[in-house]
Amino acid sequence: MRRRDLLKALCALGCAAIPGRTLPVRAASPGETPAGGDYCSSIAGSRPLFVPSGDGWFGRLAPDGAALTMRASAIPGAAGPWTQGYAVEHRGARFVNPTLVVKRGERVRIGFENALQEPTIVHWHGLGVDTHNDGAAVPPVSPNGRYSYSFDVHDRGSLYWYHPHPHGMTAGQAYRGMFGPIEVEDDDERALRAALDLVPGKSEIPLILQDRRGPEYAATDIDRLHGWFGSDIHVNGTVCPFLDVATRVYRFRVLNASNARTYRLGLRSADGKALSFTLIGTDAGLLATPRRCDDAFLASAERIDILVDLSDAAVGDTVLLETRPFDPMHMEMAAPAAAMAAPTAAMDHAAMGHMASPAAEGGAPAIDHAAMGHGGSFPEGALRTLLQLRVRERIAYRARIPQRLSTIVPIDVGHATERPLRLGFAKGRWRINDRVFAMGETPIEVKRDTVEIWLIRNYFNSMPHAMHLHGFHFQVLERQTSPDQIAALKVDGLGRLATDLGWKDTVMVWPGESVKIAIDFTMPFAGEQTYMFHCHNLEHEDGGMMLGVKVA
Ligand code: C2O
Ligand code: CU
Ligand code: CU
Repeated sequence: MRRRDLLKALCALGCAAIPGRTLPVRAASPGETPAGGDYCSSIAGSRPLFVPSGDGWFGRLAPDGAALTMRASAIPGAAGPWTQGYAVEHRGARFVNPTLVVKRGERVRIGFENALQEPTIVHWHGLGVDTHNDGAAVPPVSPNGRYSYSFDVHDRGSLYWYHPHPHGMTAGQAYRGMFGPIEVEDDDERALRAALDLVPGKSEIPLILQDRRGPEYAATDIDRLHGWFGSDIHVNGTVCPFLDVATRVYRFRVLNASNARTYRLGLRSADGKALSFTLIGTDAGLLATPRRCDDAFLASAERIDILVDLSDAAVGDTVLLETRPFDPMHMEMAAPAAAMAAPTAAMDHAAMGHMASPAAEGGAPAIDHAAMGHGGSFPEGALRTLLQLRVRERIAYRARIPQRLSTIVPIDVGHATERPLRLGFAKGRWRINDRVFAMGETPIEVKRDTVEIWLIRNYFNSMPHAMHLHGFHFQVLERQTSPDQIAALKVDGLGRLATDLGWKDTVMVWPGESVKIAIDFTMPFAGEQTYMFHCHNLEHEDGGMMLGVKVA
């Protein structure tokens, strides 16, 4: 009865408070009903969620214009699962991978030191900075070398992140722990926090998802083809943690820091009923208006900003954040397996398109996937509980979710030119427009201050690719020929998902799908700049599914 009330309350919130579609909360179907074994397997042994504080791992650090020194180094005896990170000392406090908290308009100055045994460099994912500061189109920093960053933050308030970008070595370094969040604050952010009385570290909490299988990164050819998948899913470094909560609204800022895994995030009550949440933001900031969602896909490097309203929950209730079942659509099976067996055989796209693959015809990709040798990894697209919210305290909380969060001006595409980009596989490598990355080459050349529409098409015999552009945010205009599981979530006649309605820097393109995005290449930097466009499945990126983009 209590849980029914909670469900009703959440639905009422969504249906009443949020304009737009009013879908009933989807009842859990048998396929989604949690197997008893999945309630994090052993709740008894569950540990608290790690929440970053004023120092330590992911500790919140507001430099306020002060210069920082960041040292890429081994972190001995790390408490979490990671063995490397960015060590920072500031005002007597020691941080690893600090959450950099900066105001829009603030100058960031960072002296970077490489204390690793291999080259590395930092990229500020989602920030619009020049080539030197972007870190991708410059030679990486050698061991014991230094690099200096200095840039103004022009971007909208949101959760961004930083991670290494040395070509061919990004995946291993990120997996071993080299990444951290960046919180950009602006007026919209401040208004939201004030309206909902959100306090970072208390009622506003980052959730950093990463799947892991041990401390070492040792990708095989199979991993390089599909991506590196782990056997456990960590949330802020802990497997299936719990968070004790009160009866109020919580904000979760979710970052998918996994090398390759996609999540389909949703909430349910402990007895298996699906609950909705409120989507308020995407990669590059708040939506114009909040949207009630039943679930949302989150690909590598993407972020979503969500509100969970527990104000009508009962003490003793538990709400679970989970990743729901979906078809991971690794439908590359026949083609790449053949290509890998005979690396010299030319595998052109036409041939790929006509090649029959059992997985492609609706078999059980997740099972094939395991059989392909991801030894022991947890199948992508299978149900798993990620976090337990345990309602422990009743408090008086009256705040309402504001109906306006921000203003999103559509990019004017009146004079835009359209650029076709094809994602495919040939001769053992994932490619963009049949090419693989070469340092110094910029197959994509754009005229500064112009608007382009990129039409990104993924082949049917392919897998999903999380396409990321450096330097510029974009708007998703349209999705065409989406697979059924994506089309089912569309919220408008353009085939877009709720998560397509805000500013983005990374967009998933599913097999067989075409995604149109609009990009305004206006930039404040003098001279020619070079950025990257790549798949954020880090194994694909390291394997060359990346092209240089010259803006001049
Ligand atoms: Cu997350 Cu090339 O970046
Ligand atoms: Cu795979
Ligand atoms: Cu990819």
